[in-house]
Parts: sequence; C-alpha cells; structure tokens
Amino acid sequence: MHDGRPGGSGEAGATWALIAAAGSGERLGIDRPKAFAALGGRPLLAESLDRLDRCELVDAVVVAAPPGWEEPAILLAEELAATKVVACVTGGATRADSVAAAFAEVPEEALVVVVHDAARPLLDDAVLERLLVPLGEGYDGAVPVLPVADTLKRVDRGVVVETVAREGLAVSQTPQAFVASTLRRALSEDMSDATDCAMLVERAGGRIAAVEGDPRLLKVTTQADLRLAELLLAASTA
Ligand code: CTP
Ligand code: MG
Repeated sequence: MHDGRPGGSGEAGATWALIAAAGSGERLGIDRPKAFAALGGRPLLAESLDRLDRCELVDAVVVAAPPGWEEPAILLAEELAATKVVACVTGGATRADSVAAAFAEVPEEALVVVVHDAARPLLDDAVLERLLVPLGEGYDGAVPVLPVADTLKRVDRGVVVETVAREGLAVSQTPQAFVASTLRRALSEDMSDATDCAMLVERAGGRIAAVEGDPRLLKVTTQADLRLAELLLAASTA
C-alpha cells in the first residue's frame, strides 16, 4: 500500500481514467448508441477518448462500451492512436455497473481514478488539474460543479408544489476524480440507484470536494444538446 495522498503528480501508472460510454442513448433517439453519434465528423466518444489519452495527468484509459460495440470502440482507439487505452470492456445495465466493469481493469497500485461520461465531449485539461488538487489535500474525491442559475420548482403531476431555495445547490458534472482505494470500496456497496460515482463515495462517508466546473462540459442528452456541442466544438477548434 502507499502512504500519503496522491496528488496526480504523474507517477507512472498512478492515474487511471474510466470512460462510461455504454449507455443506449434512448433520449437521443438514433440508430446506434449515443457514444457513436456523429459529432463534428467523428463519434462522440472520440472527443473524450482523444482528450483523456493526450492529457499528461492521465496514465491509462479504460472504456466501458455498449454490448456489441466493444470492437468499434477498440478500432476507434486505434484510429486515434490512443496509446493509453488498455481495455474496452462491456458496460452494464446501469452507469454504475458500467463504471464497475471498467474499474475491474484498474490495478491495485493505481492511486487516482477519474471517471468521465462519454456524453460530455468537451473536456479540457484545466478541469482535470482543478480536480486533482483536493486529492493531494486529503479529500477522497472531487467533482466539478456549476451554480444553479434558474429558479427551481418542485412539481407534482403538473402542479408547482414548492420553490426550492437555490442556495447551496450546484449542478454536478464529470470528470470526477477519486482516491482509487476509496472508489474501489464504494463500488463494492449497493449502487443500484447511484447516478454518479461521487454519490457512492459520499454514501460511504467519503469527503468530496467541489471544484469549479465548466459550462462547456454539457451532457449530450437530446438532439438539441448534440447540435450545441457541435457548435461549441467548432468554436473551440476555429
Ligand atoms: N452509461 C453507461 N452505462 C449505462 C448507462 C449510461 O456507461 N448502462 C453512460 C453513458 O454512455 C453516458 C453516461 O453514462 O456517457 C451518462 O448517461 P446518460 O447521459 O443517461 O446516457 P444514456 O443512458 O446513454 O442516455 P439515455 O438515458 O437517454 O438512454
Ligand atoms: Mg441514461
């Protein structure tokens, strides 16, 4: 075992990135899984795969692919010359199951595990840098968050029941970074209702730091999101 806390300081093999790409993309409504939707001429998954592979803070990458799409995911990694990709595994029925399947590839020696949604293509190094800071300060994990801009209502069958105070609320994004041993423990608990990994670690009593998120890390859910991501991508490469 290692002592002290990891700080993402580039120790060989220390930081593993897992890409959750195994969802079906029901709300996007196309003829293939969302990770393979076209974004700026290449599959959505290519963005996060390429960006994590090129990031100096990341040593190894594992992709959780939709059942039957493992081979296309491997081919994509080859096309991108993504040399840090060590495995493309078959994802599970839920996001948490897919993350657990990818995590099974992470060796005991890993210090930090970063979990990212393929559905958030516009990832840059700055957010990863921000996430790794608290891990060096004793936190169990870190998530990027954005303030809530809109007024929030609790609605029941079409009727507003209450206005929820916005104070203290934030929208959580991915990538999320964790001390590897903490995430390993959290993934061994019941995780059927978990919508993100931080929730698992929080539930196990872990301390999660909130760092500044990035509005460009929007999650592609619908066709409108896909078009917006395409515009942002074009603007960032122009
Ligand atoms: N995900 C996954 N395995 C699952 C479900 C989701 O790896 N069984 C991944 C998705 O590929 C996505 C991320 O988790 O990158 C966030 O999920 P979401 O945006 O809900 O994607 P989908 O589940 O694919 O979309 P939908 O809910 O519309 O079917
Ligand atoms: Mg989903």
